Amino acid sequence: MKVAPRRVLPAAIALGLAAMLSMTALRAAQASDAAPPRAPDTIYAKTCGYCHGHNVGPVIRGRALPAEAIEMIVRHGQGAMPAFKPTEISPAELSALAKWIAASKADSKEHGQ
Ligand code: HEC
Repeated sequence: MKVAPRRVLPAAIALGLAAMLSMTALRAAQASDAAPPRAPDTIYAKTCGYCHGHNVGPVIRGRALPAEAIEMIVRHGQGAMPAFKPTEISPAELSALAKWIAASKADSKEHGQ
């Protein structure tokens, strides 16, 4: 079957458009995956709780540590504790995390949570 030339161009444009649209959709999906800040308890459980409340770090929950001090220590590190960059814990996440730790109750003895 012979395709008339005037039918080919619109088809090519449609294909190109479809490809562009799906790439835009993909990019939007990736951006929204990265955008929502993680909840403080998630960050604490995955990152801080690895050391704190377990073997390595001092207990930091339930001590009413000032949120500003927590932010400073997380950004700059302290002694054996590494510093965390804004690419690892975003400013919004750190602000929420520091307030959450400051206001937290002490870790339970059973699972360090
Ligand atoms: C690799 C282990 C490790 C991780 C992960 C870690 N810390 Fe620490 N952290 C420590 C150690 C060890 C100290 C004690 C440092 C010192 O004073 O020598 C400490 C100290 C602190 C202090 C000061 C406590 C005090 O009594 O003065 C705060 C606040 C703190 N960490 C918050 C955090 C937060 C919030 C996170 C998660 C974002 C975190 N840390 C992740 C090991 C860790």
